[in-house]
Amino acid sequence: MKFPETRARRLRKTAQLRDMVAETKLDLDDFVYPIFVREGENIKNPVESMPGIYQLSIDNAIKEAKEAFDLGIKSVILFGIPDKKDEFGSQAYAEDGIIARAINSIKSAIPQLVVIADACLCEYTSHGHCGVLDKNGNVLNDETLKLLKKEAYVYAKMGADIIAPSGMMDGMVKAIRESLDENGFYDVSIMSYAVKYSSSFYGPFRDAAESAPAFGDRKSYQMDFRNSKEAIKECMLDMEEGADFLMVKPALAYLDVIRAVKEKFPYMPLAAYNVSGEYSMIKAAALKGWIDEKAVMIETLTAIKRAGADIIITYFAKDIAKMLRGET
Ligand code: PBG
Repeated sequence: MKFPETRARRLRKTAQLRDMVAETKLDLDDFVYPIFVREGENIKNPVESMPGIYQLSIDNAIKEAKEAFDLGIKSVILFGIPDKKDEFGSQAYAEDGIIARAINSIKSAIPQLVVIADACLCEYTSHGHCGVLDKNGNVLNDETLKLLKKEAYVYAKMGADIIAPSGMMDGMVKAIRESLDENGFYDVSIMSYAVKYSSSFYGPFRDAAESAPAFGDRKSYQMDFRNSKEAIKECMLDMEEGADFLMVKPALAYLDVIRAVKEKFPYMPLAAYNVSGEYSMIKAAALKGWIDEKAVMIETLTAIKRAGADIIITYFAKDIAKMLRGET
């Protein structure tokens, strides 16, 4: 087709006109806010590599969740830092474990808030891997599934609305679905970290969650960043196993993958995780005065949505909510 005339600038003339023709608009409903919870009382430890983010004791985590909810954020995702770690990550599925209690307390305080429980073992194991190890240090897949089943059951029992398995074990979605259904939690959904790359952008998170592996890396379970067609396979497997949401993680260096997954499975709600390293880079450059933090934040989040994400998990959630409400 040939356009009758070639002027494109006419629609960019004023802010109002640009708003009218904008294809992508951020909305308060788009965001999930991650919260790090640790043992103790009245604790608010700054995470050095993530300005504005804290490890919080449950009392303060409730306040933080309430603040986010009052700003219009619909959902939080919780990560735990236990006092005691062991080989089997038992605090991940203990009924009095840190996240079990955090879910219960937050849901009791703010019942309407959608609570997502990240289900993994790396924050709870002494070796920092996302599962049980054999004597050579390899992660045992099916042994790990048994523990994930317990973890999902406990989190559902404590009131989690969504279980988000992030360990990239084969069959994790099926195992968790079985565990939830066997225990009558038919309405608890699963947001699978279906496409999770082995990425260096997780560095600051591992400071925040104290979950860096003690040896080796996560390349035998997380995806190789050279691959994108494999992302489609990962999604198909997880959908067959019963995933209710898909996720691509990280987001920024993987916008092509977000787009590919959305085009292939438009009917699946798709989350993108704007991970710690992506947050820290913007914060660090802004602190140096090298970029305009607010502007870069909006551009970044809009790009993630434009690529195809329906939901964005981001440490910027409160900041962007304030902006969208016209408060900053
Ligand atoms: C746990 C988990 C990780 C992140 C979310 N869940 C760390 C990892 O896989 O090493 C990273 C999130 C971020 O960097 O913000 N498995």
